[in-house]
Amino acid sequence: MAKLFINEKNKKGHINAELYGNFSEHLGRCIYEGLYVGENSDIPNTNGMRNDVVAALREMKLPVLRWPGGCFADEYHWKDGIGPKETRKKMINTHWGGVTEDNSFGTHEFFELCEQIGCKTYINGNVGSGTVQEMSEWVEYMTFDGVSPMAELRKKNGHEKAWKVDYFGVGNENWGCGGNMSPNYYANLYRRYQTYVRNYNSESPIFKVCCGPNGGDAYWTEEVLKTCHENVPKESHGLMNGLSMHYYTVTEDWSVKGSATEFDDKSWYKTLSKALYIETLINMHGAIMDKYDPDKKIGLIIDEWGTWFDCEPGTNPGFLYQQNTMRDALVAGLSLNVFNKHCDRVKMANIAQLVNVLQAVILTDGPKMLLTPTYHVFHMYKYHQDAELVESFIEGTKTIGEENEFMVPNIQESVSVDKDGVVTITLNNLSIKDSEDMEIKFAELKPSEVTSAIVTGDMHSYNTFENPDKVKETEFKDFNVTQSGISFKLPACSVIQFRVK
Ligand code: AHR
Repeated sequence: MAKLFINEKNKKGHINAELYGNFSEHLGRCIYEGLYVGENSDIPNTNGMRNDVVAALREMKLPVLRWPGGCFADEYHWKDGIGPKETRKKMINTHWGGVTEDNSFGTHEFFELCEQIGCKTYINGNVGSGTVQEMSEWVEYMTFDGVSPMAELRKKNGHEKAWKVDYFGVGNENWGCGGNMSPNYYANLYRRYQTYVRNYNSESPIFKVCCGPNGGDAYWTEEVLKTCHENVPKESHGLMNGLSMHYYTVTEDWSVKGSATEFDDKSWYKTLSKALYIETLINMHGAIMDKYDPDKKIGLIIDEWGTWFDCEPGTNPGFLYQQNTMRDALVAGLSLNVFNKHCDRVKMANIAQLVNVLQAVILTDGPKMLLTPTYHVFHMYKYHQDAELVESFIEGTKTIGEENEFMVPNIQESVSVDKDGVVTITLNNLSIKDSEDMEIKFAELKPSEVTSAIVTGDMHSYNTFENPDKVKETEFKDFNVTQSGISFKLPACSVIQFRVK
């Protein structure tokens, strides 16, 4: 028996909706086919955007979308993607499969997509192979409403009004694909490039994201914070609003990552324990950030995370297309609980990637679309968006696993309360076989209305185009409401959500 104690009166911090963000890159079939099919496609679309995908993302309440990369961002020259489509430059996508990029999806299309979804915008600029002028003109093109060469160009291309750029990344993975820079070299470039990311609209300033570490690279974090935050005059603090971090859950190693669908018990626990390692990284980089920024003004932006397995057999290895099982559902569930619990420092997170790439929430096959187990987790967790984290604690967790090295707790949780006082509880049972008797106890709340939803199944379960609903969110009714809480049996291998009034 495990008991979840909730002190709903003790609010611990605001959960930014953006923790539930996503990422879309010009990679494989993410943008082309997955999101954008063009106005003349037989696939039902609005201004080229797939209606089925947009509807699903609205239903999931996608809060923010990052674009155009990834590694692609530091090779992307935004002027190639504006103006009449027939004259847009065709280029090779050298990073991802060597395919032709015809630039038919560019700046205008990205904003159109975000408008249809109803989400915030996160643009990633090019430091690796782009100039300061290019970056500064892009910002002018997107956000300046007055008279200027770039504003005129935007108008000529059919968009009178400036758009709103909510987040802007100054480079991506500049320690790797974004230019193989040393932290010091990048940090000085950051200072320079970000200067020209102008805030043309003082009422909605752009949130600037500095490229942060790869996984556990503490040296990068220290150096970048020293150069871009500590060693600038106090009045210039604010050169960065966020520092990014990338961490992928790779079960084996980067050369043989392992299959997304065929795995044994050991690999299940290894994956989940590696996913949970993200909390160690948040604590580690958070401690360094606390040293330079004790008031937590700079957000940790986990703008790439999720599972990375070997791509599906028979698919282009450069397209990173992988299936998504109950194991991915658990990785999503436990990672999102970790982000909630660290909402004092983590201000945005963007799972990689939205459609057809890595730990996608949606897969498509021509006109067909399916929702992955990961989608259903994001859907169940959406009530945490913009809610307040509250104190919670589980008594009676067990440590489980197949090897001493890769042990995980059997149960993991996070709890929030929204502006109407509704409590959302999300719980994961990481065990492959064992259900757990559970009791939820509130400090004061006497539950009057309780609803619950669950995603559960055999650990290998996943959705196919022939059987798209094998794993799905279903209503969970098997609980008893007591004077001070809720009791129920939490099935093995499950992600569950309660909404309590
Ligand atoms: O998400 C795939 C790639 O992973 C991104 O392009 C890059 O930033 C990271 O290495």
